[in-house]
Amino acid sequence: MQPVIIGTAGAGYAAHLHGRGYKNVSTVPFRLKTICDINTKLAEDAKNIFGYERIESDFDNMLRDPEINVIDIVTPPFLHIPMAIKALRAGKHVICEKPLTGYFGTPGEENIGLNTLRKIMYEQVINDMNELKQVLHETGKKFLYAENFIYSPPVQKAAEIIKAKRSKILFMKGEESLKGSSSPVAGQWNKTGGGTLIRTGTHPLSGMLWLKQQEAEARNEDIKILSVSADTGTTTKILSDYEHRHIAARPQDVEDYAAVSLTFSDGTKCLTIASDTVLGGTKNYIEIYSNDSALTCNITPTDILNTYFLDETGLDDVYISEMLPAKLGWNKVFVCDDIIRGYSWELKDFLETIALDKEPLSSFDIAYDTVKVIYAAYLSSWEGRVITLN
Ligand SMILES: NC(=O)c1ccc[n+]([C@@H]2O[C@H](COP(=O)([O-])OP(=O)(O)OC[C@H]3O[C@@H](n4cnc5c(N)ncnc54)[C@H](O)[C@@H]3O)[C@@H](O)[C@H]2O)c1
Repeated sequence: MQPVIIGTAGAGYAAHLHGRGYKNVSTVPFRLKTICDINTKLAEDAKNIFGYERIESDFDNMLRDPEINVIDIVTPPFLHIPMAIKALRAGKHVICEKPLTGYFGTPGEENIGLNTLRKIMYEQVINDMNELKQVLHETGKKFLYAENFIYSPPVQKAAEIIKAKRSKILFMKGEESLKGSSSPVAGQWNKTGGGTLIRTGTHPLSGMLWLKQQEAEARNEDIKILSVSADTGTTTKILSDYEHRHIAARPQDVEDYAAVSLTFSDGTKCLTIASDTVLGGTKNYIEIYSNDSALTCNITPTDILNTYFLDETGLDDVYISEMLPAKLGWNKVFVCDDIIRGYSWELKDFLETIALDKEPLSSFDIAYDTVKVIYAAYLSSWEGRVITLN
């Protein structure tokens, strides 16, 4: 088997999630060849930690390397589609982090007016995604959508059960909530393409869309997304500076709360919740209620190891849990986080997909539908109506 040779764009937080995921892949030969970041210090750090062969600061230079056959895009979302198109046109397969894209604004739009802009956003993201779809079609290269929820072991096990029982899923509920992002640009629409819904709600939403597709395949049904209605808001703006002290979210023009109700063409429903106002650690789950089962996928936190500490002596370098400022008291520890949150199985599937020329579990269609639902949800919440998708 020929080794898969990887060039990674971006050496920030998510590059480390992928780096740890690659480390667990043993079924396919691969080389981590180049890590590219405009911040060469970050690229150098990632090279040293994960064993990349070299660093690069220019994305186009990396694309010119004929040895590299897959580009792993872990840059901010506004770069995903331009980088993916360039990589595909250079003959590379593409791994792309979530979200596939968003609306980040165009020069001079401040004169257009907010109501017009809101309509433009939905149309613009669909056009951008269609352009990428066309390039994918033309190049015949693979697009591997890095949605880790799909690869989380509880979600995979739930899919196995749904398929085996040929259950009819009637209602799903999924959430990713936390106390806000550490990213300084998370509060700005033109950098992030939205707020908590596009940053964190993407995960459970994609997971549920994928699960519904598993049901459809098992039952030989054709199930599409029919309509979306949503409520979004910015709740933390009422807080004084002092009251705000424990919550990291600093939304400028984005939402810190979103609830999105989706109706499938078979009349069944799914509810996505995302919030930047939740203290107590990251809350990640998908609940599935079918005609013959109830399945609760606890992604994080799980309780396979609970700890209780009265002091933090000796724990400085021990990773206990995400988004908690202290390790004192009772804690649900993140054990095998790379596996439980899906990163290891995700990268394994992607490398096998390329090496064995198969289809990935998480593909372009899920990436496309997720962004389509999210921007329909924004439109729904602003216009106060149900948006029908076609
Ligand atoms: N799946 C997950 O759990 C998860 C978690 C965090 C982030 N993400 C996603 O990963 C992506 C990156 O997020 P992050 O938190 O790592 O952000 P980050 O800011 O930590 O890292 C992004 C890196 O990209 C680099 N970069 C910017 N422009 C570049 C260019 N032109 N060429 C090369 N490098 C460039 C930046 O210098 C930065 O180091 C986002 O799409 C985000 O949504 C996914």
